[in-house]
Amino acid sequence: MSQKQIVEVVDDGGDTATLVNDNGFPLPNFPEGIGIDRVRSVKIRDDDILISTYPKSGTHWVFEIARELLAGKIIDDDVTKGQAFVEMVPEEKYADLPSPRFLNTHLLMKHLPDDVRNKKIKIIYVLRNPKDVAVSLYNFLRTIPFINYKGEWKNYLRPFFQGKFIYGSWMDYVLDWEQVKKDNPDLPVLTLFYEDIKEDQMREMRRICEFLGVERTDDFLSKVCDNTTIASMSTRKKPDDSGAKVFRKGGVGGWKNWFTVAQNEWWDRLYQERMADCPLQFKYTL
Ligand code: A3P
Repeated sequence: MSQKQIVEVVDDGGDTATLVNDNGFPLPNFPEGIGIDRVRSVKIRDDDILISTYPKSGTHWVFEIARELLAGKIIDDDVTKGQAFVEMVPEEKYADLPSPRFLNTHLLMKHLPDDVRNKKIKIIYVLRNPKDVAVSLYNFLRTIPFINYKGEWKNYLRPFFQGKFIYGSWMDYVLDWEQVKKDNPDLPVLTLFYEDIKEDQMREMRRICEFLGVERTDDFLSKVCDNTTIASMSTRKKPDDSGAKVFRKGGVGGWKNWFTVAQNEWWDRLYQERMADCPLQFKYTL
């Protein structure tokens, strides 16, 4: 039995965001959203490639880069990672895509079909520093009509940290993934950082090529770089049906324009407590 109900999440100023509580996990109320119970039964192919991220970590960017690298050609269409976003799109809409398919999700491993692990499909796991994620998600939430959030930044940050908004806590997500990697050392997972791609896209694309088992020339890689700038992608990708704005600034360190000194000190203190055992280091500026 599905356990889904609409909830109004209240921020520190009394503004609300309309979400779905799906088996205790806060999700967007996607118009066609299939819910965690049905995601669990999605059929996984041996050669599916899964892009797994916490929201706003560069999913669209990495999808575009990875599919062009795999195809070995520049692709100029308007397709986005949304075509096989497993918790948003009914399975029949991507079931006939030719192999290998790029699936993507922001769910936790426990929400995904067991065959993701049983079949040991390739997973590209992308992380981004949580301060830029917090800002990006704030701006994103305010553009999604069916979430209908109008709150102010100062009232958003604490509930964000606590995991009240979509997909729960960033810290829980990252800690869960570190545990999944530890418990499943034979799972093929490529861990990428948004900031590293910004810093040296050629280097990170070589890592993606190696992971996907393809060889591409530097000349081709540099064409992929040109075709995957935020300016290039934002002109050719059609906006999401929801009206959500995906392409915003696309930088590293934008959080400094949003976090007050007090918010930053508060964040750093709580972050250190919560993430004390996590070995991951993030770049907050380049
Ligand atoms: P900002 O809101 O900080 O600008 P996702 O795809 O996971 O939803 O992540 C969205 C974030 O990635 C947004 O960050 C967006 O602007 C940024 N982004 C999208 N395309 C990008 C690109 N080609 N290069 C760099 N950043 C990109």
